[in-house]
Amino acid sequence: MLVFSVYALLGGILLMLVVISHQLPVIIKKKEAEDDEHQLERLHDAQNYVYASLLLVIISILAWTYYAVKGTVWESHLMEWLNIVVRVMHITFGIAWIGASFYFVFLENALNRTENVRDELAGNLWAVHGGGFYYLEKYKIAPKQIPKHLHWFKYEAYFTWLSGFCLLFIVYYFNASALLIDKNVLNISPWQGIGIGVGSFILAWIIYDQLCKSPLIKNAALFALIGFAILSGFAYFYSHVFSARAAYIHFGAMIGGLMVANVFFVIIPSQKAMVKAAKENKPLNPQLGKNALARSLHNNYFTLPVLFVMVSNHFPSTFGYKYPWLTLIIISLGAAGIKHYLNLREKKQQSVWVFPISAIVLLAAAFISAPSKNPNECKSEVSFAEVNAIVQQRCVACHSSRPTDDVYKLAPNGVMYDTPEDIVKKKDLIMQRVVITKTMPQNNKTNITEEERNIIRCWIEQGAKVK
Ligand code: HEC
Repeated sequence: MLVFSVYALLGGILLMLVVISHQLPVIIKKKEAEDDEHQLERLHDAQNYVYASLLLVIISILAWTYYAVKGTVWESHLMEWLNIVVRVMHITFGIAWIGASFYFVFLENALNRTENVRDELAGNLWAVHGGGFYYLEKYKIAPKQIPKHLHWFKYEAYFTWLSGFCLLFIVYYFNASALLIDKNVLNISPWQGIGIGVGSFILAWIIYDQLCKSPLIKNAALFALIGFAILSGFAYFYSHVFSARAAYIHFGAMIGGLMVANVFFVIIPSQKAMVKAAKENKPLNPQLGKNALARSLHNNYFTLPVLFVMVSNHFPSTFGYKYPWLTLIIISLGAAGIKHYLNLREKKQQSVWVFPISAIVLLAAAFISAPSKNPNECKSEVSFAEVNAIVQQRCVACHSSRPTDDVYKLAPNGVMYDTPEDIVKKKDLIMQRVVITKTMPQNNKTNITEEERNIIRCWIEQGAKVK
């Protein structure tokens, strides 16, 4: 990691130097550049280089800061702030990306294609929003002349991926031994875990991309079936390598990665080729548009499953199930089904069954993961002293005002069990995490036994009294 941060710093400085030596003339003559299209492009390039190098410098400063505070109480504070800043960025970019994508799918479905539509147009739409009236036109192929200023939607996708990837590092990879790896699942080193994680994203893209380029793409139903089987394979694999929570996030990140790669490697290049052909007055290769459309459609179906998986990461009753891959697959299937229903609805092709079946599939995930009635008997009265002894032994290493755990220097989520009241107040959450989903102690680092879980359950069921 230290080596990496040194490289990032050097890279940043080097890039900055390149920019300064190469682009300085353009930057200085900004006024003149604004009048010349070619110069303007260079100016924009120069700006992008500056941003990229600034980003590298910031990353390396952060990495240095991390090393400076590692092992102190500030470590978790730094990680928490990084976490929230990058998370908000990720959500914001994600909303912008998915929002734009939903909006264009809506446009496509809502276009007026019949009344007063010029020959070269596919349709138009009047809209009112934010106190203004908007009039949009969609061309059948391309306008005769490609306008100078053409807005491209791509940075939303790239930044969503970039911030998401950073978040993966901040939450899971920096803390791999605590959050990524569960020794009860598979005993691997942090570096092996990170390697498997990142490698799996690349492998997933190669498989998916090849599948899209194979003749299979012509048979939508078969493609969906095989694609789903492969995705299920990934879910199964992740659940047998990582902690359940990390398995979920890797599954979501893997699909999110496919979506961004679709934008980067297929959709944008196809659009560029189309613009180029139009500018040179050459005939358009219709396959380009078709490829881009197919990938867009896949992305459209991926959105809800990805959102669902990302959110479910905060709900231990989903990934806490004893076969996490099964709930993961079912949830993805149900969410994709709901997206299918929404698509059909916008196209006014109502299908009565898609929605209820998807809802039932989702409910099935809730149903199978429901806690079974605990067969273990409780003795007549569990004393608080017994429970307190368990909590002291199994929980306060992390959950106290002064944690002794090697990773958590601050009580996680602010949960502390220093006094009896602290324990009683949190009894419902304890029931959820320790008894039902068994996601606490984290990765069972402190080796709680089934018997102890049962004692805690009995105490809570008997009214969680402190005596
Ligand atoms: C190795 C450290 C560690 C140990 C030991 C541990 N926890 Fe946790 N606990 C965490 C972390 C990290 C989180 C936050 C992440 C999460 O919610 O999974 C957490 C979260 C929780 C939450 C959820 C709080 C919320 O706001 O949602 C509860 C409840 C909890 N722990 C209870 C317990 C109990 C009870 C024990 C002992 C039986 C225990 N934990 C042992 C690390 C630990």
